[in-house]
Amino acid sequence: MTSEHLQQTALKPVPTVELVEQPLSIGDLNDLCDATEEAISAGGGFGWIHLPNRNLLERFWQGVLAMPARLLFVARLDNTICGAAQIILPTRSNEAQSYNVQLSGLFISPWARGQGLSRKLLDYIEKTVTKKGFAIINIDLRETQEAAIQLYESTGYQQIGRHPNYAVVDGQFIAGRYYFKQLQSLDKIDPETRANQE
Ligand SMILES: CC(C)(COP(=O)(O)OP(=O)(O)OC[C@H]1O[C@@H](n2cnc3c(N)ncnc32)[C@H](O)[C@@H]1OP(=O)(O)O)[C@@H](O)C(=O)NCCC(=O)NCCS
Repeated sequence: MTSEHLQQTALKPVPTVELVEQPLSIGDLNDLCDATEEAISAGGGFGWIHLPNRNLLERFWQGVLAMPARLLFVARLDNTICGAAQIILPTRSNEAQSYNVQLSGLFISPWARGQGLSRKLLDYIEKTVTKKGFAIINIDLRETQEAAIQLYESTGYQQIGRHPNYAVVDGQFIAGRYYFKQLQSLDKIDPETRANQE
């Protein structure tokens, strides 16, 4: 190995993804808010259109973590949070859709894009919800979110519909798309795994 190669290997940032199961440290919460602000400023694409006040953003993320019906996943580069995604679990009263989860708000901060992080995060999310005994991931997003559409279509999400007036941005309707992916067949799901979710 040449010294140049050794140097390149040493400098390569380390990507990691995780399900957040403990309260975020102050440093992590700050990094998550920084990443969110940077992504919103770069065009958003995951709900926020205008940059919210920092206190509101902090309370938003703390609220996500406090909600039993949401799972928060984060992506890190060299341990710094640079992206996130949420899984919304079905409500107890929604027995008929108890095998479905909704993926929401997946984003990677612009400085960390193009390194395979969203693919890694999505793969980890799918494996986690599969282990928890769910069968279907649903996603809806604006038709203008082209990078995300590429990501989902290249990872097996199937488009099932289009809403012409899905969202309003700058006073104009924007179309949206609906996708789903089947993660596993129902007969592969251990009833005990499902019972442990309750
Ligand atoms: C979509 C997004 C999450 C991709 O993050 P990323 O970490 O840069 O993506 P990756 O490097 O993992 O690339 C994965 C795939 O996404 C697609 N993709 C990523 N950037 C793209 C771009 N600029 N144009 C087209 N496709 C793109 C490609 O299919 C890519 O696979 P490839 O590298 O094999 O071609 C990121 O651009 C983002 O945060 N966008 C704004 C938020 C958003 O639209 N979220 C969706 C809400 S549900």
